[in-house]
Amino acid sequence: MSVIKKCLFPAAGYGTRFLPATKSMPKEMLPIVTKPLIQYGVEEAMDAGISEIAIVTGRGKRAIEDHFDISYELEHQIAGSDKEELLQSTRDIMERCIFSYTRQVEMKGLGHAILVGETLIGREPFAVVLADDYCITEGDGVLTQMVKLYEKYQCSIVAIEEVPEDETYRYGVIEGDLEEDNIYRVRNMVEKPAPEDAPSNLAIIGRYILSADIFDVIRNTPPGKNGEMQITDALQLQAQQGKVIGYRFTGRRFDCGSVDGFIEATNFTYQSQSG
Ligand code: G1P
Repeated sequence: MSVIKKCLFPAAGYGTRFLPATKSMPKEMLPIVTKPLIQYGVEEAMDAGISEIAIVTGRGKRAIEDHFDISYELEHQIAGSDKEELLQSTRDIMERCIFSYTRQVEMKGLGHAILVGETLIGREPFAVVLADDYCITEGDGVLTQMVKLYEKYQCSIVAIEEVPEDETYRYGVIEGDLEEDNIYRVRNMVEKPAPEDAPSNLAIIGRYILSADIFDVIRNTPPGKNGEMQITDALQLQAQQGKVIGYRFTGRRFDCGSVDGFIEATNFTYQSQSG
């Protein structure tokens, strides 16, 4: 049994880059081939031994709750047909996971969305998945890799990858000292720096393990970039005490928050599924 039992999914954002598709549908429900983005994230958490799924939603996000629930009418309709197996993956999730939800009423940044989730998490270390970062691995999933690392380091961990220098403005960027292969002790982190201000080209992607005290730290972090509560700034306070690890994960990430990344992920997945 993993020491990390809960995974938080901030899922309140509007997904404006996908309008009009996201006008009345959550961006987390956009499918890569036939499976919604958020389901890939939940499966990754489940593979890491996590069974408590906490989702921070917002207005217009009810489809997420319905997705992880029984649909009696539909299931009755397809019972006994060859369509039944298409629902096997959501059935497996419902058998193994417990879901809880709360709403972020105002959009005040990722740090704030995570803080809203405190009521679902309580006081224990937990994972965070941003579902629009869709990750593909050959062996262990990214969260499984990170949970293993947590057992050793027992502090907050951010997944990182190298990005082109002119793209640092889209990410939280770290600066750190190499501890082991692919593992950095983070010294400094900056939210969405311009290329000339970026301390490196190691960008944070949407997988985190956060230590139990993170909610208190977020509460004590002043608003940052765009006047929002940034998780990067809260982690920076932990990093100053040597309590953040940056982990260059094994695998490939698609930025499904952008149309280009989403199409790339769709093509890649479709091609690998059709052999
Ligand atoms: C958020 C974080 C950023 C991180 C990114 C990963 O930004 O604020 O630090 O690098 O997720 O996807 P967003 O993509 O929500 O603007």
